[in-house]
Order: sequence, then structure tokens, then C-alpha cells
Amino acid sequence: MKIDAQKLVAAAALAREASVSPYSRFKVGAALLTKSGEIIGGANVESASYGLTCCAERIALFKALTEGKRDFIAVAVVANCAGGPMPCGACRQLLAEYARDAKVFVADSDVLKKIRTFTVRKLLPSAFAPESLPGT
Ligand code: THU
Repeated sequence: MKIDAQKLVAAAALAREASVSPYSRFKVGAALLTKSGEIIGGANVESASYGLTCCAERIALFKALTEGKRDFIAVAVVANCAGGPMPCGACRQLLAEYARDAKVFVADSDVLKKIRTFTVRKLLPSAFAPESLPGT
């Protein structure tokens, strides 16, 4: 299946609008694409106990997983920063576990057409993802 990176980035930009980020005011949106063409969005949610904040990528992933979605082939992440936001280490781990073969598109919300492409494998080589643990 040919992946429409621009469409997925647009979905991430739309999801970003729902960001709940009163502390950092840094809005992030993410969108996952499944093999069957479904798109699941998410945005970052912050807590007054700052460490409890959850990134957009994980919100999207947790939403998708708990709706029974699997087989993610791509994820897009959008925020207002030069070149687009690179997923944090925690999100890379979760993506490596549940979206190990996915492509990763990142874009600045001001320049949605300029998309940088990575892979989950490239972002977290040698990930902790033992086959013996429940995974995908
Ligand atoms: N954030 C994400 O949503 N995704 C990332 O990959 C990096 C950071 C959020 C967490 C927090 O709400 C805000 O950006 C500032 O760190």
C-alpha cells in the first residue's frame, strides 16, 4: 500500500488542535496509519504533576490499541518547531513494541508540506522488545 505521508501529516495537524497543554503550551499531534488504511489521531495531554504528562504519540497509540487496532505502517507527528518534533525516548520504545515496522513522518505545523521521514527501527535500534512478552 502506497503511504500518503501528506494526508497522515494533515491528520496529525488536525489531532494537534485537541492538545491539552496548559503548562508548556507546546501542542503536539500524532496520527497512526494501519495496514487497512485507518487513521487514529492523538494529542499530548499534560498534568499539573508535570511528570504525568503523556505525549501525543503515546496517546494515539493507546487509543488505537484499546480500540483493537494493530498493524501500524506509519505514524506522523506535528508540532510548531523547526523540522518537526522528533519522538521522545519513551514514545520510541512504545512504537518499537507496537509499531516496529512503521515509518515516521515529522513536520512543523507551519510547514506541513516539508516532511522528514524516518523509521521506528532507525529511531530506536536494538529496542527492548523480547518476542516472549506479549506484543502486537
Ligand atoms: N511532547 C509530545 O507530545 N511528543 C514528543 O515527542 C515530545 C514532547 C509533548 C509533551 C509535553 O506535553 C510537551 O510536548 C512539551 O514537552
